[in-house]
Amino acid sequence: MSGFVIAVDGPAASGKGTIAAQLAADYGLPVLDSGLLYRAVGVTLLNEGGELGDAAAAAEVARRLDPTRLGDPAFRTRGAGEAASRVAAHTSVREALRDFQRAFAAQSGGAVVDGRDIGTVIAPDAPAKLYVTATAEARARRRWLQLQASDPAVAYEDVLADIRVRDERDAGRADSPMAAAPDAVLLDTTEMSISAVADAARRIVEAARARWEKTLR
Ligand code: DC
Repeated sequence: MSGFVIAVDGPAASGKGTIAAQLAADYGLPVLDSGLLYRAVGVTLLNEGGELGDAAAAAEVARRLDPTRLGDPAFRTRGAGEAASRVAAHTSVREALRDFQRAFAAQSGGAVVDGRDIGTVIAPDAPAKLYVTATAEARARRRWLQLQASDPAVAYEDVLADIRVRDERDAGRADSPMAAAPDAVLLDTTEMSISAVADAARRIVEAARARWEKTLR
């Protein structure tokens, strides 16, 4: 029996990372932002002169990725998100990153993992699953505000266009499309403040935890 696992999925800039970090703090659990794995693969591949469409080269980078070095700010840029979405389309890259994510989720004390396919592929038995959404416009606005610190010249329209392209690519993947697990609780944050989102996420997870604890007795 593994520990309490919280899977937080959702599209680009939906706020799932913030929610995952907050839940991890609330429950004293380690957290993995799985998007950073794909971002690190994309950025490393480009830095080495590779091409994002080259599945074999991308998978080779994924296999030798050091997951303890995901804190590089270069992985948080707009370009890194785009590169991540491109390499994430390769089945061989997803396979190369799968075991690490599954092992992270399966650690005995439990974990929080956020991404696109956590509740469906990485941790399908997770006792708590959230699918966080918001309109493309709301997500673009949030991402645009975040990017102001590192890239003040970036235009809102360009961020919105990026998000639409990424949504389409992430949803269209043949092997693990971006989709909510059937047992995930949907959280649409379009009209919600950060604190309202945090409260709603806590309530969802509290209910899931109560159900999970009953199964342990
Ligand atoms: O969540 P993010 O913006 O950091 O993710 C970057 C890209 O990585 C996203 O466009 C799709 C991909 N990704 C994925 O395919 N599966 C995951 N579990 C996480 C991210």
